[in-house]
Amino acid sequence: TTGTTAPAHRVGPDYRPDAQKPTATVSTQISYDNVHILPQTSQLLALLTMIRDKNTARADFIFYSNRIIRLLVEEGLNHLPVIGHTITTPVGQSYAGVKFQGKICGVSIMRAGEAMEQGLRDCCRSVRIGKILIQRDEDTSKPKLFYDKLPEDISERWVLLLDPMFATGGSATMAVDVLKSKRVPEDRILFLNIIASPEGVTSFAKRFPRLRVVTAFVDQGLDEKNYIVPGLGDFGDRFYTL
Ligand code: URA
Repeated sequence: TTGTTAPAHRVGPDYRPDAQKPTATVSTQISYDNVHILPQTSQLLALLTMIRDKNTARADFIFYSNRIIRLLVEEGLNHLPVIGHTITTPVGQSYAGVKFQGKICGVSIMRAGEAMEQGLRDCCRSVRIGKILIQRDEDTSKPKLFYDKLPEDISERWVLLLDPMFATGGSATMAVDVLKSKRVPEDRILFLNIIASPEGVTSFAKRFPRLRVVTAFVDQGLDEKNYIVPGLGDFGDRFYTL
């Protein structure tokens, strides 16, 4: 078991004095500049509290996970390039704005990553979504690629790789290797996850320094079964079957 100590922060609106704000555990900060942790707002922390709670029923788990996923997708999209775009408003004035540049696609790591597809579709209508199925081989305990189906022109797209729990990074590493074998440049991959482990983000930062990780929270570590702690248990089970 590895682990970091959990940082605690006073949480709540600035107009309240510190003594009147509750203390909550916030994300471990990570010093690699390819790792982007969502701002630890009171809303995000409340949403994470809901989905971490073992007594949260499936319907609520889905609802609150979806709200976090939406925040991750919106933040991920901020890493895509924009170009200047000036328009005219209905009152005849011009506004100097921007618009998205480039094509994107989602790639979900089955099964849990599929839970993040809807949040991506909600932001990017009719987005193409590829799939990768990787499972741990029971005998060798190494991840094994079982299936992949990706858009033909994936090498020309920005890829939003989706997996909510970034634990050892074994499957994610294999997924990135698949994307790179299809000629997707590392710096055009954004890996979106809800909870990451320090060992996951560290191994990724070393192996794929140009790939960006966008996560809501870096947790304390992994347990002996490679579950993230404190974590939320098995995401796929809680979202789909529990
Ligand atoms: N996958 C999960 O669903 N949960 C963990 O804690 C680790 C991997």
